[in-house]
Amino acid sequence: MSITGIKGMNDILPGEVEAWQFLESSARRVFAAFGYREIRVPVVEKTELFCRSIGETTDIVEKEMYTFADKGGTSMTMRPEGTAPVIRAFIEHKLHTLDPVSKLYYLGPMFRHERPQKGRYRQFHQIGAEVIGLDDPKIDAQVLAMLSHFFATVGIDGVTLQINSLGCPECRPAYRQALLDFLQARLGQLCADCQRRAATNPLRALDCKVPGCIEATAGAPAVIEHLCTGCDLHFEAVRSHLTELEVPYTVNPRMVRGLDYYTKTTFEMVTDRLGAQSAVAAGGRYDRLVADLGGPPLPGIGFAMGEERLALLLGARDDASPRPALFIATLGVEAERFGFRLLTRLQRQGIYAEMEYAGKSLKAQLRRADKLGARRVLILGGDELARGIAQLRDMAAGTQEEVPLTELDARLGLVVCD
Ligand code: HAM
Repeated sequence: MSITGIKGMNDILPGEVEAWQFLESSARRVFAAFGYREIRVPVVEKTELFCRSIGETTDIVEKEMYTFADKGGTSMTMRPEGTAPVIRAFIEHKLHTLDPVSKLYYLGPMFRHERPQKGRYRQFHQIGAEVIGLDDPKIDAQVLAMLSHFFATVGIDGVTLQINSLGCPECRPAYRQALLDFLQARLGQLCADCQRRAATNPLRALDCKVPGCIEATAGAPAVIEHLCTGCDLHFEAVRSHLTELEVPYTVNPRMVRGLDYYTKTTFEMVTDRLGAQSAVAAGGRYDRLVADLGGPPLPGIGFAMGEERLALLLGARDDASPRPALFIATLGVEAERFGFRLLTRLQRQGIYAEMEYAGKSLKAQLRRADKLGARRVLILGGDELARGIAQLRDMAAGTQEEVPLTELDARLGLVVCD
C-alpha cells in the first residue's frame, strides 16, 4: 500500500502554488514599503515559550499543540503561531539595541491539532508582521492600513475589518469580575469547557462556538464599556486615525481572540465566503508580552494572515501554467543535438523553452508544443540543417518563416522576448 500524507497537512501542487507565490511576493512588496524586514525563526521551540505567551488556559495550549520530548528529554512544540517565536528571537538577539523600533515580518508553516475542515488545517501557513517598540495609536492604525492595503493589492474583496479593545492590566480585572459575575449566574447554560474555564479564563466563554454558550453570553458585559481612561483614549485615537486613513472598520465588542497575550487593540479581517472559518487575518496589541518573556518592557502589535484562506479567496490564477516562449521540434540525430544545445542556451538566458526528449515524430512533438501552450515552435530537420535554416512557427498566428541558423540567436532573442 502506498504511503499517504498526514490528515490536515496539505501538499501545495503546481497550479495552486502560483497563487501562493503571488500572495507572498505581494506581501513582501507591501511590507517593504511600510518599512518591515523579514525574520526567519525555527518551526520548533521549547514548549514553555508557547505556554507562557499564548496562555495555559487557551484552546491552543490546552488541546492543539504538537508537543514531543526530543532525544534529550526537552519538551518541544511545533510552533502553533509566529508571534511568540519572533518575540523570543527579538529578546534573544537584543534587537531593540539596534533600533528602538523593530518592524518584522515572517512567512511559514504553523501547526495546530484542530479538526480539519475547509479553511482549517493542522499544518497551515501564516504571513505575519509585528512592530515592537511603539504604543502610539497611530501605529495601530498604520498596521491596519497596511493590512487592508494588502487585501486591495491582491484583489481580495468582501473582507471586513472588525476591531475591539481588550484593555490593560489596570482595567481588565474589573471587567473580568463583571464577566465572572455574569457567567456565574448562567453557569448551568454553559458547555463543560466554559464551566471549567469560567473561573480561570472567563473571556474564553465569549469566544466559544457552542450554540448554548453563544445564547447564554449574548448579553454579557463588553470590555470596551469597562476600559480605563488610558485604554479608552487609545481606542478612540485608533478609531479616529482609521477614519483619517480611510480604512473602513466596525467595532465588534465580543471579539476576544484565542490567545491571552493581547492588550488594548485587537482586530480580525472576516469574510462570509469561507463557511465557519471566517477570520482571514487577525491580531492585536501585546504591550506586556516582551517583558513577560523576559525582555525589556516594550509594547508590540501585529497580525497574521492565514495563507490557505487567502488562497481560497483568491481562487485559481490565470498564470497558473507558465507557457513556453519556444518549443524546439527536431527530426534526426544532428538536429536533435543542435536543438538540445540551443534549448540550454535559451534557458540559461532566462527564457522558458522546451523540447521533446524521446525522439518522437514531428506530429507528436507539435501536439506536445500545443499542449504546453508554446507561443512559437522552432522546427529543425536534417534538410533544414543542410540548408542552414530553421522554420519558426507562430502558433497563434498560424504563420511560419525561415530563419537562417546564423541569425537564430539574435532572431529568437527578439521574438521570444516580445
Ligand atoms: P490567530 O488568530 O490564531 O492569531 O491566527 C491568525 C490567522 O491564521 C487566522 O485568522 C487564520 O486566518 C489563520 N489560521 C489560524 N489557525 C488556522 C488553521 N488551523 N488553519 C488555517 N488557518 C488558520 C495568531 O496566530 C497571532 N499570532 C496573530 C498575531 C500576530 N497577533 C499579533 N501578532
